[in-house]
Order: sequence, then C-alpha cells, then structure tokens
Amino acid sequence: MTAKGDHMTTPSRTALITGSAGFIGFHLCQRLLADGFKTIGLDGFTDYYDVALKRKRHDMLQVHDGFIPVEGLVEDDDLVGSLCAQHRPDVIIHLAGQAGVRWSIENPRAYLDANLTGTFQVLEAARAHPPSHLLMASTSSVYGANTQMPYAETDKADTPMSFYAATKKANEAMAHSYAHLYGIPTTMFRFFTVYGPWGRPDMALFKFTKAILEGRPIDVYNHGDMRRDFTYVTDLVEGIRLLIDAAPDRNMSEIADDSLSTIAPWRVVNIGNGAPVRLLDFIEAIEAATGKPAIKNMMEMQPGDVPATWAKADLLKALTGYAPSTDIQTGVRAFVEWYRDYYAK
Ligand SMILES: NC(=O)c1ccc[n+]([C@@H]2O[C@H](COP(=O)([O-])OP(=O)(O)OC[C@H]3O[C@@H](n4cnc5c(N)ncnc54)[C@H](O)[C@@H]3O)[C@@H](O)[C@H]2O)c1
Repeated sequence: MTAKGDHMTTPSRTALITGSAGFIGFHLCQRLLADGFKTIGLDGFTDYYDVALKRKRHDMLQVHDGFIPVEGLVEDDDLVGSLCAQHRPDVIIHLAGQAGVRWSIENPRAYLDANLTGTFQVLEAARAHPPSHLLMASTSSVYGANTQMPYAETDKADTPMSFYAATKKANEAMAHSYAHLYGIPTTMFRFFTVYGPWGRPDMALFKFTKAILEGRPIDVYNHGDMRRDFTYVTDLVEGIRLLIDAAPDRNMSEIADDSLSTIAPWRVVNIGNGAPVRLLDFIEAIEAATGKPAIKNMMEMQPGDVPATWAKADLLKALTGYAPSTDIQTGVRAFVEWYRDYYAK
C-alpha cells in the first residue's frame, strides 16, 4: 500500500552486461547504475591487456548496491543461460569479446572462442529467457574495404579485412537468425574508435600518450595518412542508453535508410561522431594535452587496417534524437588527465 505523499516509483529494471570490466562495459555499467538499473556484470578478465586495470574498473562498480559482479567466460557452457534463469534480465547488452584488429592476425583462435562461441551462448540464453531487448557490440571494421563515405548501415559490408571484422560480421548474421526465428528484438551496434578515460592500453591514444610522456617515439602508420571517426566514450554510452528504449519492432519503421530487417526485429546502428579526424590532428591534440612533442616514427600501412572510417550517424539520431558531439581536444584532454592521475605521471 502506498502511504499518503509517497510517490509510486517505477520498478527498477535488470540489465545483464557482458564485458563489464572492459573499457566500454565499465562506463556503461556506471551509466545504468546511475539510472537505477540492477546491473549484473559478467567478465572473464582475460589477459589480452593489463588485468589489474580491469579489476580496478570492477572494484569501482562494486561500490554500487545494485551491481552484481560475476567472473567467467561467455563461451562457458550455460554460464550466461544460468545467469539469465536466475536474474531474468529485461535487457542483455553483450560487449564481451576479443577486440583488436592487429591481434586477430596473430591469434585468430581467441576470436573464434570469445566472439563466435561466446555470442552463440548469449543467443541461446536469450532464446531460453527472452529479454525485452538484446543489444550487442559489432564494429565499424565490418565496413572492410568499402570506400564510399560516410559508412551507412544499409551499405553492403561483405569485405572484412581482418578475422576480427569477420567474427563481428558473423555475430550480426547469427543474431539476425535468432531474431527471426525466436522474435528477440535485437540491436547490433557498430562502434567507431571509442576513446576516453579508463581506455584500452592496446589502443593508439593510450600508447601514444604513454610514449609521449616517457619521451619515446610513436609509430605512425600509413605515414600519418589516416582518418578515424573517434567517438568519446561518454557520448557512446549515452547512445547505447537511449537505444535500450528503441527496440526494433518487426516491419515498423518510418525512418529513411533504416537498417531494420524485413523479416526480423533486428537492426544495426552506427555509433560514431560522424566527423572523421586526421591522425596527425589527433596526435597534435595529445601534444597539446600533455604539453610535450611527439617523436614520430613514420610507418607503412598495417595489414588488416583501413585508411579511413566515417560513420553516417543519422540512424542513431532518428531513433534516439541524440548525436555524439564531444570534440577531439576535449576528449583527449579528459583522457590525458585520467592517465596522469591513474599512473601518477
Ligand atoms: N573500443 C572500441 O573502439 C571498439 C570499437 C568497435 C567495437 N568494439 C567492441 O566493443 C566491445 C567492448 O570493447 P572494449 O573496447 O570495451 O574492449 P575491452 O577489451 O576493454 O572489453 C572487453 C571485455 O570483455 C572481456 N572478455 C573478453 N573475452 C571474454 C570472454 N570470452 N568471456 C568473458 N569476458 C570476456 C574482457 O576481459 C574485457 O574486460 C568489444 O566487443 C569490441 O570488439 C570496441
């Protein structure tokens, strides 16, 4: 019974986030906890990069009462299924996976296990305990050798250039089949080079900042002739948060250039700034934020890499009213401040 003066509160929703100790998962969990979601965070703490950084991120999440940490691999038989049986999440956001284009050339098997078997287990769990919305990470790398810019979700994307991209493209197709067969509303995100505080040690911003502060040279690929549609992590997480409430509805779209499937409640959505930045301007932003010059070691193009990425961001805007907008100087400054504070440099 509600006492006089009490307000009826909306019952809290439950979200299962895989990859919660990861860069994006950590920021997303913080956002959802602030919004009152009961948040189950599953992570395998794989040693692809510094496990201590992942532990620290999870420690930060554990101060929230609504956070339930779980340690384990997504591909483990029925781990995700049993979590879903126990907690009945309204929303599943699958971010766990083996990331990184370059690593996939030397270690393709890690991608097979985490990205293909792992995603299969998430789909099976969603089939057994259907959430109101299943959302999963794909990548701008699926646009592969496409040269038409900006990249639109409705463009053909059939030329992956790395095994990483191939596994993510496969994840999109796997999820489509489950959305079709079992009616699970599914959104696939195509993320564009995400950066910001608590970022990944294998990514350029982290590596460049560390080297510049230590006075060591940085490797600049394709002689600096690269462009990336860098997306600030807080903007990305805002996009995800809003997309949670924009579940695809079979055959119900009045949006131009929607990627909604004609036979399933499934769509792909780019989350990117829609404004590519030249690599040399990016490096300049790091020099400005650190107050130190970069020593540039000009290199050839790396195998598996693409010279440019550029997101068409209209679908995200049409679905949510939101568009990422943090400029590179502001975002890089926030990263460098975090880095200096965290590593006491
Ligand atoms: N950061 C980017 O720029 C970017 C761009 C495109 C796509 N993505 C995708 O977004 C997702 C999140 O990326 P991120 O940058 O946060 O990476 P991340 O490596 O920081 O996070 C992934 C997390 O998943 C965990 N994990 C890996 N394999 C696992 C497994 N088999 N079982 C359980 N946990 C496992 C890792 O321990 C890690 O904490 C990934 O799927 C990635 O491929 C990221």
